[in-house]
Amino acid sequence: MSPTTDTRGRIFFEASAYADDAKWHKTAAELRAEAPVHYFEFEGRTPFYVALGQPEVMEIEKNSDIFTNDPASNMAAHRISLDEPKEPSMVNTLINMDGEEHKAHRALVNDWFKPGAVRQLDDQIKAQAKRSVDEMQARGGSCDFATDVAINYPLRVILDILGLDEAEFPRMLRLTQELFGSEDPDFERIGENDQMMAVIMDVIGLFTGLNAERRENPTADLATVIANGEINGKPLEDMDTYGYYLIVATAGHDTTSNAIAGGMQALLENPEQLQRLLDDPSLIDGATDEIVRWVSPVKHFMRSVQQPYTLASGQSFERGDWVLLSYPSANRDERIFADPFTFNIDRADADKHLGFGFGRHYCLGAHIARLEIREFFKELFSRLDHIELAGKPEHMASIIVSGPKRLPVTYAFKD
Ligand code: HEM
Repeated sequence: MSPTTDTRGRIFFEASAYADDAKWHKTAAELRAEAPVHYFEFEGRTPFYVALGQPEVMEIEKNSDIFTNDPASNMAAHRISLDEPKEPSMVNTLINMDGEEHKAHRALVNDWFKPGAVRQLDDQIKAQAKRSVDEMQARGGSCDFATDVAINYPLRVILDILGLDEAEFPRMLRLTQELFGSEDPDFERIGENDQMMAVIMDVIGLFTGLNAERRENPTADLATVIANGEINGKPLEDMDTYGYYLIVATAGHDTTSNAIAGGMQALLENPEQLQRLLDDPSLIDGATDEIVRWVSPVKHFMRSVQQPYTLASGQSFERGDWVLLSYPSANRDERIFADPFTFNIDRADADKHLGFGFGRHYCLGAHIARLEIREFFKELFSRLDHIELAGKPEHMASIIVSGPKRLPVTYAFKD
């Protein structure tokens, strides 16, 4: 494919583009109509392909030995090369691993995330959902649903999963928002290098304590599995355990809060569907995947091509090519989803979405995320009398995880 100066490719690496969801989707749909895969070159960046179609993203994810996460699994890396030695990273996480290494590390925690095991979390998640809805009710008749409600709930669930004390909430919030958070100027990040290192050291202190405690006093929580984990008969190094803690904390927080806030926004903008859920909250069971398809909180991951490959739909890649998997675009693919730009809680094809990815790296927390979304909305809709938008929603500027950052609402509870 010949080099292109098509500026539409900026939507994939400029955080501000994701803040305008409607415009972003309009551009992606335009590109998709021309071809399911595009190639872009921009000054100062490694050229990249973008897979915009659902079958193309799926085929790439299925062939994970050819399309690897190493050396750079997201666009923040800017420049990559398969042949230059890469900088050693301090903490290795599942999302940066491939092949046997990934398999062994994932196997350690896989069972803990399976539906049967996740059911054990039912009561805790229900209790956290109730608590968040209680807090919303206590705020009177108005709040910013994104910052007052949606942010807190998934982080509390993560504290429960890891077995961390509630007192660690501020520290974990700092970790997920500042260290791996968005590039949005409204969400102050502490900046680069020295200060970033201070957060890392703080978190390492927290996890070192957690490891020591769970080795001494094992419980049924995930931290116990990680702290006492072995790979190939050898106990995990402390540094490797931090990788698990970090990925669970960061991957499980703003993804789920954006799905909940984005789902709420979609319902507020489709009042007849909202009313149906208020009349019958159990309808949320079928609507959960539609919410994830519609919001697609994870905006992309990258893959590096290890050997020449041609997709079924015709695009060829060479070794060293860098490919962006566009989940929000794949989830509106007109070839797969009927009327993809309509939010529809009864959608029959919602389960074809790739909002949780596909294949080897398929979201480890997908069952938990679905449970969290379902339980939250069930609790909320069984108690709410009505809820309306009270201002213009604003979206987060971020190239990795995004959704509403402001969602002003007014509402009344039944009692
Ligand atoms: C609606 C909420 C969520 C969304 C949309 C989401 C989405 C994703 C996506 C797109 C991936 C990459 C998949 C791929 O490369 O094919 C991923 C991976 C991952 N997610 Fe989630 N996620 C959510 C919630 C969670 C939660 C609640 C947890 C944990 C409690 C979690 C833990 C993980 C982990 C550990 C990985 C890395 C898996 C691997 O590389 O093997 N996620 N998620």
